[in-house]
Amino acid sequence: MEKQEIRTFGRRHGKKLSARQTRLIDVVLPTISYKNIQNNDKIILEIGFGAGEHLRELAIKNTDKIIIGAEPFINGVASLLSSITNNSDDILPEYSNIRVWADDVRQMLRDSELKFDEIWILHPDPWPKAKHEKRRLLSAEFLNTLGQHLTQNGEIIIGTDHWEYYEWIVDQSQKTNLTRQTPEINTIKTRYQNKNMAGTDAPKYLILTKPLPASPQPAK
Ligand SMILES: C[S@@+](CC[C@H](N)C(=O)[O-])C[C@H]1O[C@@H](n2cnc3c(N)ncnc32)[C@H](O)[C@@H]1O
Repeated sequence: MEKQEIRTFGRRHGKKLSARQTRLIDVVLPTISYKNIQNNDKIILEIGFGAGEHLRELAIKNTDKIIIGAEPFINGVASLLSSITNNSDDILPEYSNIRVWADDVRQMLRDSELKFDEIWILHPDPWPKAKHEKRRLLSAEFLNTLGQHLTQNGEIIIGTDHWEYYEWIVDQSQKTNLTRQTPEINTIKTRYQNKNMAGTDAPKYLILTKPLPASPQPAK
């Protein structure tokens, strides 16, 4: 029997969706599934996109790539869909490269062999109480899974203003074979960053990459 996974997100549903949002979820969402993407497409994944501000920015900056967003919070998905469609519910041309998985990203990664050039995770739920720590998504096990879905030069980009969670992620990354850099990154402020839930001023960032492939040994 498959091990029951610990849930890493809070609620899936917030306040009641408007009639338009319900229609977008029922009619538009199925048309932008990630399932018909080819593995030779260049793909960026954003995990836990919230209301989708950063996902939209990725779409506009990377017109040659497919941008997949994974988010189980249905109200967040509805906000994204509202912001990428016109009054006739057509996807705006500048967002035609967006695809959405409206559920737990771990399920999507299990069911697909897609490789990503970039994987973004901004302000993952910190689960600050000790008794909830096991709900933190960015465990060594999960980082290893992400590593398996990276292209050879791909990058996992993580940002959080919860500095204790940041240190925990650094610690988890040391239990993987991924290589770590701590760059300066400027992204637009997402909804969670604006709330500055952690009370710190600035998010800290971390980039994880795959180790270089071993170079072939010269013949003796
Ligand atoms: C604190 S919010 C941050 C949202 C957004 N990135 C921002 O900065 O505004 C974390 C988000 O991660 C999502 N999340 C948590 N676990 C997830 C999982 N297993 N798969 C996909 N998304 C997840 C939650 O639903 C939530 O929307």
